Amino acid sequence: MSRPLRHILSADQFDPDFVTKLFANANRTKANVEHERRHHRIGNTLAGNILYRLFYAESTRTYESFGFAATHLGMSVLGTQSVQFSSVAKGETLEDTIKTINSYLPSIIVLRGQAVGDAARAADVSRVPIINAGDGSGEHPTQSLLDLYTMRQELGRIEDLHIVMGGDLWNGRTVRSLAKLAAKFPGNRFTFIAPPTFEMQPDIKAILDKAGVKYAETTKVTDVLPDADVVYWTRVQKERLTETQKDYLAEHPDTHEKYTLGLKEVKLMKPGARLMHPLPRVGEIKTEVDPDPRAAYIRQMYYGMIIRMALIEWTLGYE
Ligand code: NCD
Repeated sequence: MSRPLRHILSADQFDPDFVTKLFANANRTKANVEHERRHHRIGNTLAGNILYRLFYAESTRTYESFGFAATHLGMSVLGTQSVQFSSVAKGETLEDTIKTINSYLPSIIVLRGQAVGDAARAADVSRVPIINAGDGSGEHPTQSLLDLYTMRQELGRIEDLHIVMGGDLWNGRTVRSLAKLAAKFPGNRFTFIAPPTFEMQPDIKAILDKAGVKYAETTKVTDVLPDADVVYWTRVQKERLTETQKDYLAEHPDTHEKYTLGLKEVKLMKPGARLMHPLPRVGEIKTEVDPDPRAAYIRQMYYGMIIRMALIEWTLGYE
């Protein structure tokens, strides 16, 4: 009997047991890839499999890290970021495009859609696993796992953390997925820092309320930095702003400046705390912060590739 396909669609689907197992596999995968690189080799555990990346929206890290992750596992990697030159430009539906790619026998499709729910739509018609690599302002489940893995690596724990999230929390899918996932671990609490109209959306707050997870909200950046274990900063998602948000920014041109972290702000954080960012940054973390040991966003990219290697293995039934 065939087992159900292992799609990755939402942070909702992961429980602490899954995360614990995944992180143990990721640690093993990390040791393997580092060993192979020392010998100028790539792994071959998934040779014979094909990963296809179908991206309807801009990406650097997610697109490339999935490509490298699969390559380090010995897979063949194909994909497109140029849907404007494909039949999508002629009006082909997402469903038909997924059926097309399925016809060429990939092992996994990594999809970055344009709208909330695109990954679920794709999963409905796909014969191979779909990995949601971001669907509009919906979710970014693999990012939330890499974010949590970064916390485990950098802080040694993913429980009892005060996680401060700042920036465009309304449109940012990374903070939405991460809040859902981190809320499943005991003792974690949140502070959301966002300008008016950019606050965390009510659906996420309702999930936290229901789970009895504590959170606070503020518009003042520096107040909570000294008490944070993790500061997770984000950019304004300018491609997805509502009219109200555009008006707010036009009326308050100093918003970006107010939500910029430099060394002065980062020095308010505890020495053992960590500053994370899904990247790209567009000025909201000054480059002067990069050498500070609290700045984890460069290492976060490496952990991202590792966790995606472990996720690809899980998707294909290896654990
Ligand atoms: C994020 C995204 O695409 O949601 N980037 C990423 O995947 N690392 C964050 C962003 O674009 O701001």
